[in-house]
Amino acid sequence: MTEKGFFNGINRPLEPSNLTEMEMKHLPVIETPDTITAGEPFDVTISVGNIPHVMEVAHHIQWVDLYLGENFITKVLFTPVFTRARATITIVENGDGGTAILRAVERCNVHGIWENTKDIAVKK
Ligand SMILES: [Fe+2]
Repeated sequence: MTEKGFFNGINRPLEPSNLTEMEMKHLPVIETPDTITAGEPFDVTISVGNIPHVMEVAHHIQWVDLYLGENFITKVLFTPVFTRARATITIVENGDGGTAILRAVERCNVHGIWENTKDIAVKK
């Protein structure tokens, strides 16, 4: 069996409690309160990754997308050299409570697309 290429689909953590160095450099990190209130704005900060990814012309993070559940929220584009792969977005969850899933997807120009998620509790 051959190793899966980085550009074949979306890369996700194989073993979340024991990340590889490649996963540490590419998985989006989602920072937000663990519990939010429905209808009230809250901040979501996304960075790539636990080990900051390089932002050089030849190798950099091109963009990150944020989803709340099935809803696309935003895409942030990054320019190498002049930026770092980190963005804070203020969003509102308008559901009926329970659990909401934040999903961040980023693309490295050398190592493909990577996804991470975070569950948040939503108070009514
Ligand atoms: Fe990379």
